[in-house]
Amino acid sequence: MRFLITAGPTREPIDPVRFLSNRSSGKMGYAVAAAARAREHEVVLVSGPVSLEPPAGVEVVKVTTAEEMLEAVLGRIDKCDALVMAAAVADWRPVQARAQKIKKSESVSALQLARTPDILKRVAARKGARLFVGFAAETENLLEESERKLREKNLDLIVANDVSRSDAGFEVDTNRVTLLSADGERRELPLMPKSEVAKQIVEWIERRATRSATEKK
Ligand code: PMT
Repeated sequence: MRFLITAGPTREPIDPVRFLSNRSSGKMGYAVAAAARAREHEVVLVSGPVSLEPPAGVEVVKVTTAEEMLEAVLGRIDKCDALVMAAAVADWRPVQARAQKIKKSESVSALQLARTPDILKRVAARKGARLFVGFAAETENLLEESERKLREKNLDLIVANDVSRSDAGFEVDTNRVTLLSADGERRELPLMPKSEVAKQIVEWIERRATRSATEKK
């Protein structure tokens, strides 16, 4: 299969030296890329700024902002069979990035923000038979919020992670997730290395693709 995977944060510039971003290290998305490659799938990894070595044999497309990530995904979506959005796309950007460094002597009391594009919503019209997998990073009402995103973003699977836990979510090497599928499957996985979570996601995609191919016959 051909996998298109996003990973890491995006950075939304305030001025040439400052940005808005989040704590994503890229570990979860890179683990999915490695797991898909280990199963001999073709992998394109669209990565925000992280300090990880990409897995061998994976094509990497480096981006910085949400807008660049959107362009990278839109440009490659037609050539993939499965999209896995593990990236933590910044939800807001400063309305106007300043061309010069803002001086400390300037009194800046507020930043005017605009929403960044919702990448999953923007590619929804191009879904066709492709499998779309999203992640939900939540600090409260994990399953309710994840189910809402599963429906609103027209996903086949959402990987719900409670990012308020110290052993799950951002930066750490482990994760504790629940897999929620559009057809009602709910699988709570125990705490495990991100590499193992990634393997479970790739295997879910493979099973689902096989089932769809069988149903078509
Ligand atoms: O990178 P690590 O340090 O390993 O951390 C892993 C992780 C916590 C970043 C990862 O497991 C994770 O949860 N990624 C998704 C984080 C996120 O942005 O969640 P969300 O609930 O805000 O978004 C829901 C889904 O919509 C996600 O698949 C996201 O990629 C996508 N999205 C979000 C915003 C946006 N503007 N466009 C999107 O497509």
